[in-house]
Amino acid sequence: MSVHLKQDSVDDRNVLDKTGQGVIGEPIERPEGLLKVTGTAPYAAEFKIPDCLEGVLVTAPILRGKVKSIDRDAVLSMPGVVAVLSDERMTGRAAQGMANAAPFQPAQDVEYWGQPVALVVAESFEEARDAAKHLPIEYETEEGPIDPAAVETSPAQDPTRQGDLAQAMNEAAHSVDVTITTEGHASAAMEPHAAIAQWDGSSLSVHASLQMLKFNRTELADSLGLDESKVRLLSPYVGGGFGSKLGISQEAVAASIAAMELGRPVRVVMSRQQVFQTIMRRTETQQRIRLAADADGKLTGFGHEARISNLPNEDFPEPVIQSSQFLYAGENRLLTLDMARIHRMTAGSVRAPGEAVGVQTVEQAMDMLAEKIGIDPIELRLKNLPDQHPVKGMPYSSRKLAECLQQGAEAFGWEKRPRKPRHTREGEWWIGTGVASAARIHAVVEAKARVSLQPDGTGMVESDMTDIGTGTYSILSQIAGEMLGLEPKDVLVRLGDTDFPPGSGSGGSMGASSTGSAVFLACEDLREQLARKLNVEPASMVLKDGFARWDGGQKALTELLDGDEITATGHFEPGDSTEDNLVSSFGAFFAEVAVNHWTGESRVRRMTGAFGFGRVLNRRTARSQCLGGMTWCIGNALTESLLFDPVDGHLANCDLAEYHVPVHRDVPDLQVLMLEERDGAASPIQAKGVGELGLCGGAGAIANAIYDACGARVFEYPMTPDRVLAALERV
Ligand code: MOS
Repeated sequence: MSVHLKQDSVDDRNVLDKTGQGVIGEPIERPEGLLKVTGTAPYAAEFKIPDCLEGVLVTAPILRGKVKSIDRDAVLSMPGVVAVLSDERMTGRAAQGMANAAPFQPAQDVEYWGQPVALVVAESFEEARDAAKHLPIEYETEEGPIDPAAVETSPAQDPTRQGDLAQAMNEAAHSVDVTITTEGHASAAMEPHAAIAQWDGSSLSVHASLQMLKFNRTELADSLGLDESKVRLLSPYVGGGFGSKLGISQEAVAASIAAMELGRPVRVVMSRQQVFQTIMRRTETQQRIRLAADADGKLTGFGHEARISNLPNEDFPEPVIQSSQFLYAGENRLLTLDMARIHRMTAGSVRAPGEAVGVQTVEQAMDMLAEKIGIDPIELRLKNLPDQHPVKGMPYSSRKLAECLQQGAEAFGWEKRPRKPRHTREGEWWIGTGVASAARIHAVVEAKARVSLQPDGTGMVESDMTDIGTGTYSILSQIAGEMLGLEPKDVLVRLGDTDFPPGSGSGGSMGASSTGSAVFLACEDLREQLARKLNVEPASMVLKDGFARWDGGQKALTELLDGDEITATGHFEPGDSTEDNLVSSFGAFFAEVAVNHWTGESRVRRMTGAFGFGRVLNRRTARSQCLGGMTWCIGNALTESLLFDPVDGHLANCDLAEYHVPVHRDVPDLQVLMLEERDGAASPIQAKGVGELGLCGGAGAIANAIYDACGARVFEYPMTPDRVLAALERV
């Protein structure tokens, strides 16, 4: 049985609130948790494949040019070396997954420092690495632009223009016009990119670390010239992706080509440095924010003009202005996104593309405006929540932003403004607090999942959906358990294999709502199948603890199934419900920061996040998503920055020592409030995206707290001690 829904209308039946098991939303532990913490969950590179060769990628130490020659013979006689491959299909750039449907692009030319140009294959990893280091390659080099500020830009998307922003600024009682910069980010997933490819002469099977298997299978088949049915991908466990594994990259293509040519399995694991230099970066940005307000603090104008970069011929535009479309009021609006073309590795999706860097700057400007008007920054935000989409006029499907600001303020202990900075000092440290809103657009995508009830009364869910650390295994077992009247431990969830029905994949905070809805649809069908067996209406039947109960009786599922298995495939597709409504997750951040008067060092002391993202499917894993996002906010605000050499353009800080993601000592106790809501436009399970929400705006709360502490406005992210010191000197 297959059941299909294209969601054109709002589903406010709230079915999951009316079922009997009571496991939806519960903070159950991850079914795969024990495997992960004991190191026995196999990640891509860890599968034990007999007779496996090892491949090491050789990358170009030039910005731009051509490979003139590769002296294969120089290394082929080295111990253990089997082959040197330089197929152009395995060079080039990472695909961008479904982000822009861009394929894996082969390249004859070198376009960025760190681009793979060859693969050395040997019997052992050490032999392959040694030969890779000694492989003589001659290049013909070319100059290329590397400084995004020094090149002309062109529009990356159509601007949003409404009214006359310049005039609104002229006539405003209060206004802010500020330019803020952010630097590039690395996704910095813990598990490096890795693949083991096996070719049996006609079909290819690849253990890989990927986020979106359905798309990745197409990309890999296309790049190899194979029929999709000949390619199987396996990613049961993924150690984070954060955008960098949305599309396939060079290690998977190289391992596949080598396996096909050499007739033996081949493993290719990227080094940490290669992951940083080769795969993907978040673009740096320059953003001008203009806010115009009347005497009461109502916004009359809203401007957000952003400058980003990417490689020549690479389409992905970091959607910096995405939630500026709908977050705040302002009749007169100007939103633009302009692209500079430079030779750095592909700019792609990294942890909440767009809002991760776009909201924090708007939130800083809002803080400055509140100060000018002389009102509390929370009040300014509350005054400017539009009744409908300010440009398109559609309604918000749900929005807990005001409640998040209010309840978050209470939980945090927010002290009302206005107040002058430098009000509190503890020894060398100035102490201050700041607030910011959170916003992240919600999206859903087509997904399928198969659910079955086994003769023994247990459930099974199968989809090629991935769990990249987010909790997919948990929530799918809860959705199926709730619908079928089973404890989640009695539902086996099998993921990460393209032999299963194609799910949504994990990306853009879409996975839970999309694949979760496919599981939900399949379960609705199974409930109907069971009700038919009982000759009752599905609505009058309660499934609980392995029993079906109805008015007048009860029966164990095992008895009802009578030795048979029943199965249904759910097929969910987004429709008009997310077109006719503005569907977004919202929230608020509060931060307390200490700034050292002498060194400019900033330490986050505590942070509260309050979030509304529709139905909470599992309070433990959802909270963990929020904690992860808030941790990224600290990195975004204070430490994370890709540093490119201004002379040769190479990425200088390409490991986790030099590229500083917040570590344990940087992260204080984080408080998370989850405000339950039901959003039937978002999905048939009334859930919205949460994965990336916790990152979208919080760095602005930290920036505003730095100002409240020491009186210095810093306009460059990350706010490193040198930048804070320089700003302190201007106070
Ligand atoms: Mo996300 S940056 O779409 O994995």
